[in-house]
Amino acid sequence: MATRRREMTRPDASPAPRYDRAEPHASALIESLRAFGYTPQAAAADIIDNAVSAQARTIRLNFQWNGEHSSVSFLDDGTGMTAPELVEAMRPGGRGPLDARAAHDLGRFGLGLKTASFSQCRRLTVATRRAGGAVVIRRWDLDYVGQMGEWRLLHDAHPGSESLLEPLRQLPHGTMVLWEQLDRLAGGSARTDARAHKRFLAMTDTVENHLGMVFHRFLEGRGRLQMFVNGQPVLPWDPFLCRHRDTQYLPPEGLRHHGHPVSIEPFVLPHRSRLSADEYTAAAGPGGWNAQQGFYVYRNDRILVAGHWLGLGFQKDEHYRLARIRVDIPSALDAAWDIDVRKSRARPPGSLREDFVRIARLTRERAVEVYRRKGRPAGRSTATSAPTALWEARVGASRTDYVINRDHPLVTAVAARLGPDAAALRALLGLLERTVPVERIWLDVAEHPDQPTRPFEGIDPAEIESLARDVYQTLRASGLDQEAARRRLEAMPFGERPDIVTRVLQEERK
Ligand SMILES: Nc1ncnc2c1ncn2[C@@H]1O[C@H](COP(=O)(O)OP(=O)(O)O)[C@@H](O)[C@H]1O
Ligand SMILES: [Mg+2]
Repeated sequence: MATRRREMTRPDASPAPRYDRAEPHASALIESLRAFGYTPQAAAADIIDNAVSAQARTIRLNFQWNGEHSSVSFLDDGTGMTAPELVEAMRPGGRGPLDARAAHDLGRFGLGLKTASFSQCRRLTVATRRAGGAVVIRRWDLDYVGQMGEWRLLHDAHPGSESLLEPLRQLPHGTMVLWEQLDRLAGGSARTDARAHKRFLAMTDTVENHLGMVFHRFLEGRGRLQMFVNGQPVLPWDPFLCRHRDTQYLPPEGLRHHGHPVSIEPFVLPHRSRLSADEYTAAAGPGGWNAQQGFYVYRNDRILVAGHWLGLGFQKDEHYRLARIRVDIPSALDAAWDIDVRKSRARPPGSLREDFVRIARLTRERAVEVYRRKGRPAGRSTATSAPTALWEARVGASRTDYVINRDHPLVTAVAARLGPDAAALRALLGLLERTVPVERIWLDVAEHPDQPTRPFEGIDPAEIESLARDVYQTLRASGLDQEAARRRLEAMPFGERPDIVTRVLQEERK
């Protein structure tokens, strides 16, 4: 390439530029291709993308635990590739982001197969066959490339691994992607290492749940695509509970960016009391209720981002966990949406941000209303506001945090009174939250399961009344009028003791 360019006469006839050849060292670059930051589930989704783009109808994933000889394979019945196509597919950066793509193509950078695979394994074997053709095999072995210092793509399976490719031979056409030497998923663990095996199984579950989410539209209805993990069907996960009668559909909007359509449809999921225990668990999604709020960005029907406020300035907060907003973008807008190699990031282009903020705000408002409407039986007086919780459980991936609701009326009243000194309150609340004696409480409740758990159960009424008086006076001192302060008092557990509320208010009038 460089030599050819030197021979060409340049139109302006200026002297040919001087240069050095500084090609990347194979061993160094191939190692850095491992560091794109894929999770196992994002890597698996990238491999599935290719199968879907190749019109596969059935995809079988096999996670095989065998200590350091563990493997993961992806078998699809798509169109398959010819030998030259396979070599091109294995080339890092085969088809770049600037190449035009078919509308259904889920690919982008021409990297996914390589970067996703190398993020999890040191040996990538791809076997493929076109209808009527023979099976062709190519293999990248990072250790071999490192030793040779050259991009040598091998022509066969690793000795001893041939049998793993056998299922492909049963298909008239299709492709198998095989990951071996799973240094990151299986490490150097022995086959008998029970903990490593358990981690491997947990990872398998995580991948399965993620795929059920990312490809749910492909898996739903008319059996367009079937996917199996170790023989078990992957079930689609619908983030919006579309078929539940208490799901609220907010008005959809059709926006445009550079002439391409971007459609948005906000949903507010049903209040917890409207869901059975199973529905509630299932609807939470792979990351849990709190994590799954926000926008869901679909590109060609595949989820890129599942539950994210897209850097629009909103925080994930317990109150907004029922807000989930569907967004559909075409792949023509990849660059504008800043899609990354892992297909795990997308950000709305500047021209759409205002609309996104407006829609997010609206949906969050509706979501918080539903969230607070605590399954009150119909027909009860609406004069009493729903109780407002002071403590909230924030369920994260690895732990649950117990936090104080900063919007609780007493918290806002105290903060208002403190004015510029509200930092002191924040410090106190923050410390309280970080030192909740969870373990102690857990032990006590386990030991005495019958002890009262409702806030005022078994408490001296005089003590409740004195607390109610202090809370009421704090609310009043923050500038609330009598009626507003009474409503807030009732929305706290004091609503359960109307006699006490009445006395506290009468006292003030005297
Ligand atoms: N399972 C498969 N079936 C058919 N072709 C495939 C398969 N996997 C990869 N390919 C081919 O390899 C190419 C490179 O894949 P990849 O590295 O993921 O980049 P991209 O998907 O961005 O094009 C794809 O464009 C496709 O032509
Ligand atoms: Mg791809």
